[in-house]
Amino acid sequence: MIVNHIIQTEGLTKRFGQVTALDGVDLAVPEGSICGFLGPNGAGKTTTLKILLGLLAQSEGSAKLFGREVSLAEPAAFKREVGYLPQDPVFPPRMSGLEVLQFVADTYRMGGARKRIHELLDRFDLADAARREVARYSRGMKQRLGLAAALLPEPRLLLLDEPVSALDPEGRFEALQLISGMRDKCTVFFSTHILADVERTCDRVVMIHRGKVVAEERLQDLLRRYSTEQYELRVEDGREDDALDLARSMPPVREAVLADGVIRLTAKHGQLDGLRRSVVKALASEDIMVVDFHLVKRTLESVFLDVVAAGGVAASNGAGGSGGAVASRDPVARRSMVASSSAVAPRDELAPSDGAVSSRKEGSK
Ligand SMILES: Nc1ncnc2c1ncn2[C@@H]1O[C@H](COP(=O)(O)OP(=O)(O)O)[C@@H](O)[C@H]1O
Ligand SMILES: [Mg+2]
Repeated sequence: MIVNHIIQTEGLTKRFGQVTALDGVDLAVPEGSICGFLGPNGAGKTTTLKILLGLLAQSEGSAKLFGREVSLAEPAAFKREVGYLPQDPVFPPRMSGLEVLQFVADTYRMGGARKRIHELLDRFDLADAARREVARYSRGMKQRLGLAAALLPEPRLLLLDEPVSALDPEGRFEALQLISGMRDKCTVFFSTHILADVERTCDRVVMIHRGKVVAEERLQDLLRRYSTEQYELRVEDGREDDALDLARSMPPVREAVLADGVIRLTAKHGQLDGLRRSVVKALASEDIMVVDFHLVKRTLESVFLDVVAAGGVAASNGAGGSGGAVASRDPVARRSMVASSSAVAPRDELAPSDGAVSSRKEGSK
């Protein structure tokens, strides 16, 4: 059987009492992709991953890995073909990093894993600490050890929950490079609330917000679709409203919004050049001085905020961004998404503790 989609969910819904953590999530992640699972804290990322891993039962809907329905009876989390890194990996504290990896190798009956273990310890900068008790590892070291453990059995699919959240910028950069390097070797699906991680690493992105998927496509397509539709315009003080009225009367302008002294102009499809020409001409004829007029270079952050504000509609109908979303951008999304990897990542204030099954290792004892 040819498996096109290594992860597939339909109408996946999860309720915790009154809280609907997932609300009809449809996912289709093609084999071989590096897919970022992006969303603010509390969006439902960990819940989705736990259901995929067979560690948590869904309330409704279906979830498949490799074309097979996932099951609590046979959790994928403990199968060799799936590597899993929990959000806060927990290891038996008395074991050393080296012993943890040996234990994982034994669990999977990997003969001759010694060489690979030492390679991984080197690669994750743990060689010096290899014989030290894991209890004395920092959070970043545990995360690196967890990544090494997930990679060790050379799985076909890697499910990583915020794999770089505890790392410093340098460690983060290296870990993301390692993840990029997995392309062609396996499929990676990793959650993050850090937009730069996705921009740097992924070829696909799934955006989730309040338990709903608001965008799912190739990163390149998403950015391209949002990249060239808008201009920002600033005019001399006091003439903003005149300029806004004028812009709104121009046929190529789909939408014009004024916020913080900046007029954001969204072009009708294919009317970008026409917009610039007609607006500049009209402003000149009204003697309104243009201070700045430039094409908006969209970041993934602004795309995310607009997609969320538009309820994901723009993403699915291919109609492009919602220029008017500037004023209505979701404050929750804005607060908890982090654009830059060098920013201090906020702790997951909404996320539950990972106590149920904290790591592959613990669960397989
Ligand atoms: N065991 C649980 N009991 C009650 N609510 C939960 C539980 N696990 C998660 N939630 C809620 O479900 C929502 C999604 O959580 P989570 O999947 O951890 O989000 P994320 O990983 O994107 O930060 C949040 O509102 C969270 O508070
Ligand atoms: Mg989480």
